[in-house]
Amino acid sequence: ASFLPGLMGLGPSMATEYIFHKGVLFPIMNYSPETLSFVENEFQVRDDHVFNVTYPKSGTNWMLEILSLIRYGGDPSWVCSVLNWKRAPWMESQTGLEAALKYLPPRLLTSYLPIQLFPKSWHHSKEKVKIIYTLRCPKDLLVSLYHFSHFMHVYKLSSSIDVFLEDFLSGNMPYGSWFNHVTGWMRLKGNENFFSITYEELQQHPQDSVWRICHFLGKELSEEQVATVVENASFQSMKGNKMSSFSLLQDKYIDHKKGNFLRKGICGDWKNHLSEVQTGFLHSAVPGAIRLNVCGGWAPT
Ligand code: A3P
Repeated sequence: ASFLPGLMGLGPSMATEYIFHKGVLFPIMNYSPETLSFVENEFQVRDDHVFNVTYPKSGTNWMLEILSLIRYGGDPSWVCSVLNWKRAPWMESQTGLEAALKYLPPRLLTSYLPIQLFPKSWHHSKEKVKIIYTLRCPKDLLVSLYHFSHFMHVYKLSSSIDVFLEDFLSGNMPYGSWFNHVTGWMRLKGNENFFSITYEELQQHPQDSVWRICHFLGKELSEEQVATVVENASFQSMKGNKMSSFSLLQDKYIDHKKGNFLRKGICGDWKNHLSEVQTGFLHSAVPGAIRLNVCGGWAPT
């Protein structure tokens, strides 16, 4: 079943705060149909690009930090001196695209794009370009996103978590439906240059996860270097690093008094926020293949 929103499903208030591009919502702030079309049709993907792809709140910035650290063998100098959104720009946003185009290769780029809006030129480099896709249990993702929407001005405020859940289930969300995003990207599973990992795996097996990412990237790091990557990409390290915590993000994007990008950084916070009925709705909407084959731990208990 498709969860893509139809135009008819969008209320008038939403239209003023989001743009609707090729069936997918995007924030008005920092996004435009022109930029999104440019990224899809003209952006030139090179063989040496590495992409950090996620649906928002899946662990994007954690992966960004891990990839930044792996690039320098665990040495934290880069992550401590350069802002994360400059180390791996979100290529589909207006400021991100500017940064991406100035970025000297090899480029590390981040994207929230659903697969159908990803740069077409990628098809010519499919054999070489590496894509890392991070997924997260949708219950925790929803809770994280709900909190996030209260302090990030790019999101429309919902009157309650019930309304938010409804929008999430129907795909009326910036960057589109989580369900379509995950199923779209996970069709690449098995492709040599596509690597998927869950937020939960990163939490439970950080060392092993970093090993696997290094192996995928063809980077040989020693045991000590892997341990340094894990340590420097930990929740506490990132919270203490202004280059990674978003504490320097401009006030036009965020209300710093209302919340933190690095909020809790745990698995299972959904238990504190979602009722049995709400989790039931969410569970029944998650495609079986995703629930069982990718993340057995998401199954209802
Ligand atoms: P919570 O809101 O549940 O705390 P994204 O980077 O995709 O926006 O995801 C943000 C979520 O990842 C937030 O979740 C944030 O706290 C968590 N996160 C970021 N860095 C982390 C880290 N190093 N370890 C664990 N969780 C992290």
